[in-house]
Amino acid sequence: MLTVVASGKAAPGVTTSVWALALCWPRPLLVADCDPAGGDMAPGLLAGRVSLDRGLLSWSTAARRGLTATATATLLSEHAVQVPERPQVSLIPGFATATQGTSFTPETWERLAVALEQFAAAVGWDVLVDAGRLVTDRGCWPVLRAADRVLLAVRPSVRSVHAAHDAVQRLRQELGDLEKAAALVVGDGPYAAGEVARALELPLAGVLPYDRTAAEILSDGALASPKTLRRAALMRAASSLAGKLGDSSGASSVVEAVAG
Ligand SMILES: Nc1ncnc2c1ncn2[C@@H]1O[C@H](COP(=O)(O)OP(=O)(O)OP(=O)(O)O)[C@@H](O)[C@H]1O
Ligand SMILES: [Mg+2]
Repeated sequence: MLTVVASGKAAPGVTTSVWALALCWPRPLLVADCDPAGGDMAPGLLAGRVSLDRGLLSWSTAARRGLTATATATLLSEHAVQVPERPQVSLIPGFATATQGTSFTPETWERLAVALEQFAAAVGWDVLVDAGRLVTDRGCWPVLRAADRVLLAVRPSVRSVHAAHDAVQRLRQELGDLEKAAALVVGDGPYAAGEVARALELPLAGVLPYDRTAAEILSDGALASPKTLRRAALMRAASSLAGKLGDSSGASSVVEAVAG
């Protein structure tokens, strides 16, 4: 199962939500930081704790040598780092800069999309992707096309819903339809999550609460005891959502998550 989390502009918390879900995921998980604007996952929660020489770039260099799709998929684990607090979760760190991100051509993204799909199928792990902001027609669209579901992170505010509308149009254009897309409402605001999803004409995949303390740990690696994180409202909600997402299989999963 390949799940992508993305957003419009206005930093609604994609990276933080991906970390929250990853740390609670009920099955072995490969997380890929595919934000073309630069990867925040390793320099955030894992700052100073993992090797910086592994990631999307090192994988693409190794995968370039006319290898089969199966071989490029196998290579993914060599270019991932284990998440110390959750050994069944590995992360492929993203680009150090946006300039590095532009070095990935549509063909490279396509190769990555196939590798992630094959990895999930062959190894039986789930894959969770931070795709960053859907604001141009460049970037990791092949990965979104390969995904089983796409969660669009949005804050319940007019500004964020406005930005998400644009992302929804792009999704429709690039994917052909919105069948596998759903809204992930993050934080508090003047509108209910259901209203936000309806405004975007998407099903509601889940809601993650505003939780400054836990979010700072996840997005910036703020120091805290493991107990603080475990008890946080954000992690409790993420655990329940990850349970639904990680448990379900097939294209009906978004609907199941909504029904749940
Ligand atoms: N649920 C939350 N509650 C409180 N603060 C949050 C929450 N989610 C994210 N934040 C905070 O919002 C800010 C932006 O979060 P994050 O980096 O995850 O957003 P993003 O959508 O990945 O942004 P970008 O597009 O720049 O990569 C961070 O300071 C983070 O701590
Ligand atoms: Mg981010």
